[in-house]
Amino acid sequence: MIIGVPKESFPGEKRVALVPAVVPTLAKAGHEVVVETSAGLAAGYPDADYADKGARILASRGEVFAASEAVFQVLCYGANDKTGGEDLPLLRRDQVLMGFLRPLGSPETVKEIAATGAIAFAVELMPRITRAQSMDALSAMSTVAGYKAVLLAATTLPRMFPMLMTAAGTIAPARVLVIGAGVNGLQAMATARKLGAVVSAYDIRPAAKEQVLSVGARFVELPLEAADAEDKHGYARSQDETFYQRQRELLARVVAESDVVITTAVVPGRKAPVLITAEMVARMASGSVIVDLAAERGGNCELTRATETIIDHGVTIIGPVNLAGTAPYHASQLYAKNLTTFFLHLVREGKLQLGLEDEITRETLLTQGGEVVHPRVREALHPQGGYPTLERRTS
Ligand code: NAI
Repeated sequence: MIIGVPKESFPGEKRVALVPAVVPTLAKAGHEVVVETSAGLAAGYPDADYADKGARILASRGEVFAASEAVFQVLCYGANDKTGGEDLPLLRRDQVLMGFLRPLGSPETVKEIAATGAIAFAVELMPRITRAQSMDALSAMSTVAGYKAVLLAATTLPRMFPMLMTAAGTIAPARVLVIGAGVNGLQAMATARKLGAVVSAYDIRPAAKEQVLSVGARFVELPLEAADAEDKHGYARSQDETFYQRQRELLARVVAESDVVITTAVVPGRKAPVLITAEMVARMASGSVIVDLAAERGGNCELTRATETIIDHGVTIIGPVNLAGTAPYHASQLYAKNLTTFFLHLVREGKLQLGLEDEITRETLLTQGGEVVHPRVREALHPQGGYPTLERRTS
């Protein structure tokens, strides 16, 4: 198949869906890669590097879409709510589209993509199963974001992270609290530890404790038990407001004693729970920093504003939305590996395998034959029920 890589069009997006290093892997499996000129430039991958690895460089976005049987993007229409719609007229029947599509957040755009007849796969719906780990783009991007969140905090904090014993006196290490010990939380803990901070963390999933300890952080024990904390996919479940109220009360002291708080607590498909109130911020020492990785989902701190940095009572609250994109070289490298593995899983002997007996295909396939075929997206389109049931093809 011919795989096309257009330049990302979302304003400020520097990542690219494929890097030169994976071109030979795809070629070995019989696929050809075409790349829009300068698609990888902002991430550190010039055209010449793609050409050296055997990719063809095309002059325009339109040519890339026209030449491709499969289009690889980081932010497809849906995830790209600014310029993504401009790709709709370029898509055609049975053309494969792979990338982030935000299908549950913007199901209407999935419907528009379905109308083009394209076969779209959403990487954010990759199931959390062992054999899909190398295709899990959410985890890969979370790893980068967790690392970057700590760097952001470290450069904003008026203190240093490590303990230092110098001739001019001793410097106490920074105290970092991470709330939410998923992929980005664990990477944040590991990075803060490497910089010499004293790190503690909390998560409502009891299973997280062992992972927190394994990266050298202390687990904050709260006398609080979540009802059914974890679903069968390993994700946290939403709790009621009484629980969150109690959690805030219990966390208040730990938050007040921290120089840096990194929050990452999210529940799939929900607004992020508020775990730090304005009152809790006011009790933190002036100069402290909160980096709220849940900003895009409403924020774990009451004062967070997505994409903004605000200062309240001397505390800096940063609400970044695309931290993975700020390390575009490595974010693209990881993402390219995710997509390549995913694609080679889906296409065998030159043919796209759409058998729904495979969990990876079933969970990620959004559109086919002009229809939205993903049950959860169909439900999101018809929240009152009554959406027509669809006979899902098994091959
Ligand atoms: P996430 O990004 O969905 O959420 C971040 C963290 O916030 C989670 O650990 C969650 O438990 C926590 N959280 C939610 N509500 C909270 C609250 N009120 N207070 C404190 N913490 C709260 O998490 P992510 O990175 O997607 O990881 C979720 C789980 O999935 C983890 O167990 C992770 O190890 C697992 N996982 C498994 C994979 C695989 O097997 N292929 C791949 C990636 C993650």
